[in-house]
Amino acid sequence: MKIGVIDSGIGGLAVLKKLTDKLPHYEYLYFADNAYCPYGNKSEEKIIERLNFIADFFVKSGVSVVILACNTATGAGVKFLREKFKFDKVFGLEPSIKQAATCGAKKIALFTTKRTKECPNLKRLISECQAETVLGETDDLAFTIEKNIFDLEKIKSEVEKILEFSSDCDAIVLGCTHYIFLEKYITERFGEKVYDGVDGLINNVLKYLSEKEGELKKTDFRSPVTIYCSNKCLAEINYIWQLIANGYIKL
Ligand code: DGL
Repeated sequence: MKIGVIDSGIGGLAVLKKLTDKLPHYEYLYFADNAYCPYGNKSEEKIIERLNFIADFFVKSGVSVVILACNTATGAGVKFLREKFKFDKVFGLEPSIKQAATCGAKKIALFTTKRTKECPNLKRLISECQAETVLGETDDLAFTIEKNIFDLEKIKSEVEKILEFSSDCDAIVLGCTHYIFLEKYITERFGEKVYDGVDGLINNVLKYLSEKEGELKKTDFRSPVTIYCSNKCLAEINYIWQLIANGYIKL
């Protein structure tokens, strides 16, 4: 079975790493829409147009399950993908404020892209959440991470800003997959109550696949991954994937 994974750039590679670690039984196609990165400052219409293009490509490539490894794309277009295309299943990724509240948080600092902040679904999630949620300012952070992935130490001041904003909160929710690359620095200082939603997503995928195909056997097999992108830097994104897959860029 082919699983298609989508992000605007490298953020979804953090999700792909966890997916291939937990579910090595499948073949993965990863599409980094880096000619249009960041999605966070694009209109909903533009993101839907891009998802339409990528989904068409996935259909032609024989993908049956799609994972939006991107909070921004999920907010803008998961409904569109589910309605327009006939994939067996489309998974999305939402900021995990509900999980943080369920784990006892009373005040959550949530960080997302600008587009996600404006998403009606996020407003609904916040209003239904038992905990108070405050939104931090990280409008350009995804792009900053995309450009500095080889030297994250250089942008550690971004971590300081996140920690400062979160100082009176008891949980941090990272509502953008690019931010996962800073998570280890945040956790070192803030403690364990940092949520990115990926484990929940992977559990849902695992549940769906084991219901469909029976219990997944343990395997040493390493999933084949093919990376595609929309700008001319395929070699660079493949290299970044190799660094992540082999543990040189740590999550
Ligand atoms: N990684 C994405 C997300 O989870 C998109 C970031 C961006 O392109 O602005 O929201």
